[in-house]
Amino acid sequence: MAPAPKFYSDCATTEVHWCREAPLLRPPLVRGKQDSLMSEPFRPYEKLVEITILGKKFQVPERNSLLRCFQFISPETIPYGRFCWNQECQYCRVSCQLPDDDESREMLSCKFIVMPGMEVTELSQELKWCLRSKLPSDLAVPK
Ligand code: FES
Repeated sequence: MAPAPKFYSDCATTEVHWCREAPLLRPPLVRGKQDSLMSEPFRPYEKLVEITILGKKFQVPERNSLLRCFQFISPETIPYGRFCWNQECQYCRVSCQLPDDDESREMLSCKFIVMPGMEVTELSQELKWCLRSKLPSDLAVPK
């Protein structure tokens, strides 16, 4: 069953309506209960944390899955990737170096909650494709 459309109050008109373009919008920081509707599809957050993806630094919302953080970075592509968002497809697999780890580890970005200072060292082909315009231009992206 397709998920119900979400209501967003920051659309261009003042009328109450269902907005299909809403997932493309970057939500504002959540400050109050009423604003929490505007934070979707992100979990409520109060600050951004810095992570590194293939050597490039990004600010992403705390308390969100790494895949949601990728969506924050690239809202125009990640929602249209072939991601199941529930640990089945494996298209979101990454390798990461966590601040307290000696070695990098593989993980599913739809499951792992972002940690400040984490470094993503490898991306799946699907993620490379979706993030290609945000990452270093010498990155080999499959066609
Ligand atoms: S998005 Fe499918 S396993 Fe993570």
